[in-house]
Amino acid sequence: MTIIVCPNCSRKHRADTGKVTAKKKFIVRCKACEHKFLINLEHEEEQKPTPAAAATTPAQATPAAPKNTRKICVSLSKGGVGKTTTAVNLSAGLAMAGYKVLLIDTDTQGQSSFVLGKKPPAGLTELLTGELTAKETIFEARPNLDILGGGRSLAGVKRVIDKKSFGAEWTLSEAMADIDGAYDYVIIDTSPGWDQLTVNVLFYATEILTPVALEVMALHGLAEFTKNLHAIKRYKPIDLNYIVPTFLDDRVEQPKNIYRKLQDLYGDKVCTPVRYDEQLARSPSHGQTIFEFVPDGVGAADYAALVRRIAGNKGVLLGEQFDQGAVVPSF
Ligand SMILES: Nc1ncnc2c1ncn2[C@@H]1O[C@H](COP(=O)(O)OP(=O)(O)OP(=O)(O)O)[C@@H](O)[C@H]1O
Ligand SMILES: [Mg+2]
Repeated sequence: MTIIVCPNCSRKHRADTGKVTAKKKFIVRCKACEHKFLINLEHEEEQKPTPAAAATTPAQATPAAPKNTRKICVSLSKGGVGKTTTAVNLSAGLAMAGYKVLLIDTDTQGQSSFVLGKKPPAGLTELLTGELTAKETIFEARPNLDILGGGRSLAGVKRVIDKKSFGAEWTLSEAMADIDGAYDYVIIDTSPGWDQLTVNVLFYATEILTPVALEVMALHGLAEFTKNLHAIKRYKPIDLNYIVPTFLDDRVEQPKNIYRKLQDLYGDKVCTPVRYDEQLARSPSHGQTIFEFVPDGVGAADYAALVRRIAGNKGVLLGEQFDQGAVVPSF
């Protein structure tokens, strides 16, 4: 039997936590005041966290001095273009290169956590509704890489944001104000489509990275996204900074033509393409990044190139196993 004290109304509750769940961390709701909060039984049992449990250890995200954080959202309204794959592997690569990274999942599908093999008990929903603090919602996923998870509950948050009379578009920025200075990079994975949460992300982010699948409708999707972006630009400076061509199959002519067209239209913003690689599609079901799953493959080489491009550091992730046996494509 455990006594749980509600941090909001101080009401004490008796709970047989052993019966409630086999997990050591979970969210409960106070019967008296309805406040939701995180219970962590690991500390009570004075257990040393195992590597797996480290995934659900609240991150210690309090720096001595705020960093000059780059906030990069990975966005395109079109679905299935490689946003989550890019957000996760870019975050993981930057973390491996020694940068302190926070990955925010703003998608109701909650796939970023899944790809990293984690199931955080709380995330962006609880942070945006103010039910939990940043410390209770951000979890360490890998060394240097923390995650603020998304998921189905974000649908409710969208309704809350929609109902706000003033400043709805700044909700995410306000929630992150005391947190993001702890990180070199905040990478934000976004959902397909365009809604209040997308607008919030674009008001929060300082840079945009857009994955574009090299297929027939690629340029159409990009043009539509750019058109929507114009509305945001009236209120804050933001632009497409990086265009990452994805699903390149260099045995076929058409993707190469689309890639060249992208270069004509967007010049230097177009990054080295990410090739079609089955291992990129397989790694999520193993809960591994591509650098962990097949470090010497095509996908790792292409994402290592992207990490170097973003970090502006040509030495990053070089000379390690990630570039072996894989030639980064160039045209
Ligand atoms: N370069 C690649 N080669 C092969 N498969 C890939 C590649 N990039 C991503 N995939 C796979 O394609 C699918 C779609 O990718 P992903 O989930 O990253 O797209 P998304 O833009 O985030 O989709 P959504 O809009 O639904 O969020 C996934 O199954 C992913 O594993
Ligand atoms: Mg996605």
